[in-house]
Amino acid sequence: MHLSPLLLAALLALYTYATPISLANLNITTPPGTPPKEWSQLHRRAPVEIQESPLNFCFPPVSKKALAVVEKAKPKLNLNVFVFYGRRQNTAVLERYLRRNSIANGGLVTKVLFVLNLNKIKDNDDVDWINALAAKYPDFYEVTHTPPGDFNQNYAHITAKEDMYIKVDDDVVFILDGTFEAMVAELWTRRDWYLLSANVVGHTIFNGIHNRFGALRAWTLNTENSGIVTKPANETNWRVSHLPHVNVLKIKRIKTERDMPGSFYQRSYMKVDQEKGQEGLLKGSPLWLMKEGSFDACSWKSAHCAGAVHYSFFEAVEQNNTERYFFPTWDLHSSGYQRWSIHMFAFWGKDVMGLDIAGDDEQYLTVTYPEKVERHSGAVGNGLIAHLGYFTQEAVRTHTDVLDKYDALSREIEQTKLHGMACPGTF
Ligand SMILES: *[C@@H]1O[C@H](CO)[C@@H](O)[C@H](O)[C@H]1NC(C)=O
Ligand SMILES: *[C@@H]1O[C@H](CO)[C@@H](O)[C@H](O)[C@H]1NC(C)=O
Ligand SMILES: *[C@@H]1O[C@H](CO)[C@@H](O)[C@H](O)[C@H]1NC(C)=O
Repeated sequence: MHLSPLLLAALLALYTYATPISLANLNITTPPGTPPKEWSQLHRRAPVEIQESPLNFCFPPVSKKALAVVEKAKPKLNLNVFVFYGRRQNTAVLERYLRRNSIANGGLVTKVLFVLNLNKIKDNDDVDWINALAAKYPDFYEVTHTPPGDFNQNYAHITAKEDMYIKVDDDVVFILDGTFEAMVAELWTRRDWYLLSANVVGHTIFNGIHNRFGALRAWTLNTENSGIVTKPANETNWRVSHLPHVNVLKIKRIKTERDMPGSFYQRSYMKVDQEKGQEGLLKGSPLWLMKEGSFDACSWKSAHCAGAVHYSFFEAVEQNNTERYFFPTWDLHSSGYQRWSIHMFAFWGKDVMGLDIAGDDEQYLTVTYPEKVERHSGAVGNGLIAHLGYFTQEAVRTHTDVLDKYDALSREIEQTKLHGMACPGTF
């Protein structure tokens, strides 16, 4: 079935508004839309120290050019992060990267506000979990909420004109060191950008760009018994080099998520070996079907593709080669005001404050408003993050071990210092 982008947007909006829950049943104490107490205090930041990775994998070091801008910006920079929070399983991974980038830890982030999304939260455990987290780190985390259906309130906490803000989805499950620095430096120097997106693995537009530049590798769902992961989540290995390979000639047709059996099995993927002389191809993997464009079926609504995208990324991390996902900063609106997915983006307070963002915030912020004020948005290529999946790709969460792998990866990275994972000889 072919769905037009408009129809998909309508379905998305419907989904977002479905099943609101009653506030009375939730443990919520803060008034809606409250800005955090310290949103607007400037902080002293320590100079950045880049160090060699003590682990058996490493990252490209933070860009020197970005660091130079950030050093100059620091005395005047106030960087606020907010997260539209829905699920603790995702956020448990994300928040490790947020704390890693806190000022206390040598990073740039002043404060994080979790805005509870009452259209998505299904149970009180999610509320209790985030409240407990905020209580544990009271100087860094705060919690507020938006009343169900009142989308306008989602941005009501943006009250400081001269502050920089970064919005992060709660299913962002990896943030490369240097991402905040890259985004801040770009927005600081290019005041003409309206919004600035990170470079997102698991994104309807950027997947196609990663494919174009040859960053992806051929992975496919392992539907053999060996593909069922029996280990408990806390013992998951994120590394993929030990996983089985399959010869491309053995794959008769590319499997889809309809082939994912059993709701409780955690399935893993296998690497597809190409024929001799065709090593760069993605044949046999669902990624072979990927096309550039914002509503490409592979990137936007196939869980099987999402899994393959993430396994490809785990391979790059294991090979110390996340850099192959980088691209130069580019203009997302160079061929018109096209909609793009806003999983992590930066902007100045004054550019979003007071706007009437009712309903579909993504449509408003990436199309309607920038078109009206004639401003383009950009994407910064060395600010690299991973986004688990769209609501259409729920099976990547329920039927694969991808989230467990990101969880394991984040636990290893958490043991090191921010900027303390640079590859030897690169800084
Ligand atoms: C609210 O939170 C408290 C403490 O975190 C907990 O004991 C209580 O059961 C929660 N209430 C509901 C309705 O879940
Ligand atoms: C990646 O870098 C780490 C840390 O420098 C090193 O120990 C490891 O051997 C490297 N791995 C590969 C596949 O090059
Ligand atoms: C994982 O969790 C299980 C059950 O809670 C526990 O017995 C086991 O020791 C944990 N493993 C690790 C590596 O923490």
